[in-house]
Amino acid sequence: MAKKQKTVYMCSECGNEYLSWQGQCSYCGSWNTIVEHRISGLKEPAADTRRRTGTEGRPVKLGSVGTSEYERMSSGIGELDRVLGGGIVLGSLVLISGEPGIGKSTVIAQAANNVAQRYGTVMYVSGEESEEQVKLRADRVCTSGGDPSSSISESLYIYPETSIENILATCEEMKPCFLIIDSIQTMYSSEADSVAGSVTQIRACSNLLIRFAKTNNVPVFIVAHVTKSGELAGPKTIEHMVDCVLSFTGERDRDLRILRSYKNRFGTTDEIGAFRMTSGGLIEVADLSGSLIESDAKEEGSVISAVYEGSRPVFFEIQALVTPANVGFARRTAVGINYNRINMILAVLEKKAGINLLNHDVYVNVVGGMNTGSTATDLAAALAIYSSYSGKTPSRRIVAAGEVGLTGCLRSIPNADRIVQEAVRLGYEAVILPERNARHAAEAGKVRLSDNGRTVTVTPAGAEDGSGIRIIGAANLSDAIRAYLQ
Ligand code: TYD
Ligand code: MG
Repeated sequence: MAKKQKTVYMCSECGNEYLSWQGQCSYCGSWNTIVEHRISGLKEPAADTRRRTGTEGRPVKLGSVGTSEYERMSSGIGELDRVLGGGIVLGSLVLISGEPGIGKSTVIAQAANNVAQRYGTVMYVSGEESEEQVKLRADRVCTSGGDPSSSISESLYIYPETSIENILATCEEMKPCFLIIDSIQTMYSSEADSVAGSVTQIRACSNLLIRFAKTNNVPVFIVAHVTKSGELAGPKTIEHMVDCVLSFTGERDRDLRILRSYKNRFGTTDEIGAFRMTSGGLIEVADLSGSLIESDAKEEGSVISAVYEGSRPVFFEIQALVTPANVGFARRTAVGINYNRINMILAVLEKKAGINLLNHDVYVNVVGGMNTGSTATDLAAALAIYSSYSGKTPSRRIVAAGEVGLTGCLRSIPNADRIVQEAVRLGYEAVILPERNARHAAEAGKVRLSDNGRTVTVTPAGAEDGSGIRIIGAANLSDAIRAYLQ
């Protein structure tokens, strides 16, 4: 009997399905992205994304299930291993997304070469570039630095192919220990009848790749491009199938690149990896705080902020510029920091710090390309805006971290003690923290506490001679502003 054809309408942005065509996707809000797909009436089972344990098909007591550590291999890139939770888990599927040209192929080529040198055959499937182009890049990134031991491994294979069936047949034969698909948008499967890059094709190819990874216990890295708005086009539909979703971000005109994980079945999603793009490929940045801060930030409108990312504190500069606006139209611009958050901070500043910003343009910028999304940057942003508005600057090197509440109070932030340690390392003279964080540091017994009114000043024990760092706990935004400009 001939296969029955069924038509569905699918959004090419987010993959949501509809029974009839409509102009706007009600799920993601995109216009003119819904396209017709013909699918065969026979239902295909979803790919099984689990590890085989031998107990499939019957319920077992959860308490009696034995667990084993995941087997991992190192990518040879510390920052990548850190984001993955301690290395590449065998049999896992990792989606690496990022804008075109951000450096996805570069980081993967470096990892592929390292894995090939240590563990054996690595298959790098390129659907975008020819073997010469991949070789040129590998020459740049794998043999840089004049180190004679760094060379392209004999076990690294490049395979310019886009048919997923051919790729998997070759892999069954060559048994690589690591497979890379660059990129999923260029792959096609004969099982689906739409063009490469469509949601149907991406799903079909991913199903086959998952089956391959789980049956052969081979890790597979899938590269995926994102749309201008930062959405994973098409691959959004496979996010739930893969084990890790990594996103590679950065500004093209700056060399800092940040690798983040949005989903990780084998580790935390808090870790970030930092790289610099150089002429010899990507270089890991271990001292992220030190490299993000260039000036002492004693100019007006510039404040050093700190957040805790994964397992390390990161310091960076927030700048604000407040200028008189053209009549009736005040601009607010935020780069590297949430726009709504800035509007909220402006409202709190107006109400609680008594400044009138109605007729002022406000620009806020996070220097160095860092975009943390953390609310711990609120206080530094507020101080930077106040400093630019008032034209006042602090007399000492100072760091500020804390969340600003709608009532103007400062709410505590996690890992403040680690931020203080890093501030000492970087040679800051004072740290402004929410009062609760500062008191906590005092209770830990490492510091002496003196209470003058509502501001708590904590000086590390043994630092009475002024050599230590001053920890200033502020209850609210006005206290923090006063302490900052002291
Ligand atoms: P690429 O990894 O090809 O980006 P993607 O795969 O994410 O599209 O990197 C592209 C950019 O990186 C390119 O514009 C040039 C730059 N680059 C360097 O600056 N140094 C290098 O060693 C390499 C290989 C690339
Ligand atoms: Mg590429």
